[in-house]
Amino acid sequence: MKAPREKFGGRMAVIMAFAGSAIGLGNIWRFPYLVGENGGAAFILIYVAFTLVLSLPIFLAESAIGRSSQANCRAAVEFLVPGKAGRLFGLLMVITPLWILSYYSVVGGWSLDYLVQSIKLDFIRAAPSEVAGSFGRFIAHPWVPVVFHLAFLAVTVGVVVSGVKGGIERFCKWSIPTLFVLIVLIAAYSLSLPGAGKGVEYLVKPDFSKVTAHTFIDALGQSFFSLSLGTGIIITYSSYVKKNENLLVAGAGTALSDLFFAVLAGFAIIPAVFSAGIEPGTGPTLIFDTLPYIFSHLGQSAPVLSAVAAILFFAAIFLAALTSSISLLEVGVTYLTEDKGMKRGWACALLFVICSVMGTLCSLSFGPLSQVKLLGNNIFDFADSAASNVFMVTGSLISVILAGWVMPRSVLFRELTGGGVFSANVRVFPVVRFLVRYVAPIGILVLVLSSVL
Ligand code: TRP
Repeated sequence: MKAPREKFGGRMAVIMAFAGSAIGLGNIWRFPYLVGENGGAAFILIYVAFTLVLSLPIFLAESAIGRSSQANCRAAVEFLVPGKAGRLFGLLMVITPLWILSYYSVVGGWSLDYLVQSIKLDFIRAAPSEVAGSFGRFIAHPWVPVVFHLAFLAVTVGVVVSGVKGGIERFCKWSIPTLFVLIVLIAAYSLSLPGAGKGVEYLVKPDFSKVTAHTFIDALGQSFFSLSLGTGIIITYSSYVKKNENLLVAGAGTALSDLFFAVLAGFAIIPAVFSAGIEPGTGPTLIFDTLPYIFSHLGQSAPVLSAVAAILFFAAIFLAALTSSISLLEVGVTYLTEDKGMKRGWACALLFVICSVMGTLCSLSFGPLSQVKLLGNNIFDFADSAASNVFMVTGSLISVILAGWVMPRSVLFRELTGGGVFSANVRVFPVVRFLVRYVAPIGILVLVLSSVL
């Protein structure tokens, strides 16, 4: 007999869990360096537009698929597309998050190591010249980053093993509000630094001369990544949402809090980067390279404030990474427990082993395995670009086609309007369906084609 499925407790719990998946390294680590590479305010405007017009409808499409199925992601997709193709699509959506988790937890491990270093006051004690460049030495080390990667993965498993309500919901309910408080404090600190004004100008004055075709692809990829689209996560979490919850409000709430958090993170990081006189376009190492340098530099004159700021900053990154990594793990765990009848504990253990091996390869690709190239990239970059440019885009396209063209209109209507109960939703439903059926698929195709042609 089938055991009854768990459910999230209420509207707040649903939004916190969705926001937990959305708010993560994508906001604090990825967004600021993309802003820095793509000329600041103009990138932010394009990113916000994409999130509202393309990503939010995709999010709603996925949540309708998930809740209407009340099942794991593989079953949910196969329910709409019976047969081999459905099975394949569904499996793609189960495998993608595990793939992402493997390299995501490498960055999670970096944040854990940097949190430990800031608690030990390493950045304050060392001279700025020693701190500059220390990140490169750290990630090239043959085993230290691997150990922190495994520790991060173990903490993720520790939360997920306790279940959807007892683990994920309980954890996200306190950590998401905490994160908002932390990021506001850090932004206030950053804005108070000498010379921060130039950074603010960079964030609010659009310079469209820096915008190229690549800016659009980066903005789209970032928007998908940040809202965790196309990977089975929204489908899986939505299957745990009660029938009487308002999915449209939950989706809009998630998208807005994710946008708001990204912009706050931009204000927490970019002014500090400008204040230190560092070039903002240095890529993925931006926050790990520049912030310790800033803490060390300012630690010479204000050691206590700098020490506290460093600890809060790396605690925030670690916490944000964790609320997302648990969502990445949950997709596979739901699949293994429901589809393969595995116990939750064993499913977690198995996935821990798989992600440890894949993640270790990613971690070592900055050190001993740096010579191994896949399609011209090291293993880590290959894993990241395959996930965001191929898997997530494909997954999102499948989702909107399923919700817009395969799922009966009546089912989509029922899921997004509470069966007509939420009258405001009934009014916007035609707009949402139009975005799902036409704008999102065409938008995705145009952007993908323009990036390969
Ligand atoms: N959205 C998270 C972030 O911004 C990361 C994340 C969680 C994710 N689940 C995902 C990214 C699924 C891609 C796909 O950090």
